[in-house]
Amino acid sequence: MKRKIIVYIATSADGFIARKNGDIDWLDRPRAAGNYGMADFYRSIDTILWGRKTYDVVLKMQRDGVKGATFDPHVKNYLFSRRMRSRPVKHVALVKESVPRFAKRLRAEPGRHIWMMGGGGLIASFLDAGEIDEFMVHVIPTMIGDGIPLVAPRRRLVPLKLRRSKRYSDGVVSLHYDVVKAPARGQTRRA
Ligand SMILES: NC(=O)c1ccc[n+]([C@@H]2O[C@H](COP(=O)([O-])OP(=O)(O)OC[C@H]3O[C@@H](n4cnc5c(N)ncnc54)[C@H](OP(=O)(O)O)[C@@H]3O)[C@@H](O)[C@H]2O)c1
Repeated sequence: MKRKIIVYIATSADGFIARKNGDIDWLDRPRAAGNYGMADFYRSIDTILWGRKTYDVVLKMQRDGVKGATFDPHVKNYLFSRRMRSRPVKHVALVKESVPRFAKRLRAEPGRHIWMMGGGGLIASFLDAGEIDEFMVHVIPTMIGDGIPLVAPRRRLVPLKLRRSKRYSDGVVSLHYDVVKAPARGQTRRA
């Protein structure tokens, strides 16, 4: 099986993954039955990629005693940071390689798909390296006005192909896209 790197994430209706200060209070809402297919998705992955700021949010949630704020020891957790010098917590490995080198190595290892947890900074690093295969975005029917975008901003043109969309009873819409990869040099993009 070809391993894919998949962003599975929730955004506000206006495209943010958190408030500017990192708050995700607007995500604290009752879940629709089936939790938006989370269990099926989780069974399809065995690896999670964490940006350092998202990792810090989990650590803070742990300190605050938030239930479920853990790093699952049954999957491989990789943390990306350029600045971190201290060792990450148990069950988390700090990546020392560049994104392209890491992604190449990970894709060559046997295993299930890879969950790109985010946030927007790490997603941007992988997207700009051509290393995101799919986006599964759950759009929450709430606007928060300002915040951290799904992908850290810069000028880009990344075509997406819609695989599937699903509407849930609570107004959440999930959008499942393939990232249309630029053709390798010497090839032309097929329609
Ligand atoms: N809505 C959701 O479902 C959802 C999901 C995930 C996260 N979030 C939220 O997103 C927010 C954080 O997002 P963010 O965009 O600010 O930060 P982030 O992507 O979590 O972390 C950014 C950091 O990751 C490291 N990084 C990024 N690219 C790298 C690369 N190429 N090589 C090595 N390290 C790299 C850098 O760490 P250093 O600065 O240490 O070098 C960078 O500052 C949090 O508030 C979190 O709660 C929401």
